[in-house]
Amino acid sequence: MHIHKFEKYWLIAGIGGLIVFLVILGFGAFYLGTHPQSHGIVIDPENIEANEAFKKENLGLHEIGDGKYVLNVVASAFNYDLGVDEDGKPVKHIQIPKDSKVLIQATTPDVIHGFNIAGTNANMMVEPGYISSMEVTFKKPGEYTLVCNEYCGTGHHLMYATVEVVE
Ligand code: CUA
Repeated sequence: MHIHKFEKYWLIAGIGGLIVFLVILGFGAFYLGTHPQSHGIVIDPENIEANEAFKKENLGLHEIGDGKYVLNVVASAFNYDLGVDEDGKPVKHIQIPKDSKVLIQATTPDVIHGFNIAGTNANMMVEPGYISSMEVTFKKPGEYTLVCNEYCGTGHHLMYATVEVVE
């Protein structure tokens, strides 16, 4: 069977491109350990408080061990619920010690939201029916803004909080 020379070139280029793509994907996934946030964990969006992590009193930042924290967040139109302070006021600013390990767990009872701590690699989609989680270590002190980067409605731009990484 005769294959035209150009056809051969394109076949090689096509298969080569596919191999390069898979190698890059494999390098990112297995060597660098880059994975999309967990979408394996489901939750009833109409009853998120049935999950321990999203009970009112468990929202916000909690120290769970030496240099280990959990940050539970409920994103909803148009707010990030990070719990309340001693005066019962909604927390809009959290302080995290530098180099600590923070497990972020987020969910939403309504529509798709984003969870992006701008300038860090904390970036997830938050979808109703799922718990999005990722572990982050903040290495650079400073003030960062938590923003919603998925358009979720008229108050989308009002969804933010600040995260301060302290020495
Ligand atoms: Cu929530 Cu945009």
